[in-house]
Amino acid sequence: MPAKKVAVVIGSLRKDSINRKFAHELIALAPPSLEFNIVEIGELALYNQDLEEHGATAPQAWTHFRQRIKEADAVLFVTPEYNRSVPAPLKNAIDVGSRPYGDSAWSGKPAAVVSVSPGAVGGFGANHHLRQSLVFLDMPVLQQPEAYIGGAAGLLGDDGKLNNDRTREFLTKFVAAFAAWVETNAKS
Ligand SMILES: Cc1cc2nc3c(=O)[nH]c(=O)nc-3n(C[C@H](O)[C@H](O)[C@H](O)COP(=O)(O)O)c2cc1C
Repeated sequence: MPAKKVAVVIGSLRKDSINRKFAHELIALAPPSLEFNIVEIGELALYNQDLEEHGATAPQAWTHFRQRIKEADAVLFVTPEYNRSVPAPLKNAIDVGSRPYGDSAWSGKPAAVVSVSPGAVGGFGANHHLRQSLVFLDMPVLQQPEAYIGGAAGLLGDDGKLNNDRTREFLTKFVAAFAAWVETNAKS
């Protein structure tokens, strides 16, 4: 069976992002039934309907992003929490992918959410605010295990790699559950 394509969407634009580091760890720990592509969100103009309606042509970055999401069988979100919610660039990417009306790139794609924070709460607020949008976008989201990675800075060594066996074990379990979820819920 060919590997299922997973678009990885990272909620931080920061060069040294701990979320990006965790995304790479998840990719490395995943079973071969999943093939990952990080889909960048930093170049997406803020969503504004005027940019693609009444004869206007949508910005190329939007079109490209929508295409990359459509090509994927599933989506893995790895995100920090900003002020107990979803960082603006990620919410913008969600909005861009959801339009034009009736042609959402997200529709029906199985997904999982991992929130990563140096704080103790592990990005719970962002994780669940994101889930609220994904329900509306008709994306079946992995329920268990939940992944709120708290104290995350201390789980990475100076080389940016995971230095904690229990976390590695958890992430391995998480991404295996996601692979099973994708197998069950992917459309093709
Ligand atoms: C605007 C802003 C708001 C933040 N709000 C929260 C928050 O609500 N909860 C939290 O755990 N961390 C919060 N943080 C700290 C981030 O978790 C921290 O900067 C983290 O490293 C961001 O992820 P990254 O390393 O992947 O960029 C906030 C950071 C910024 C810049």
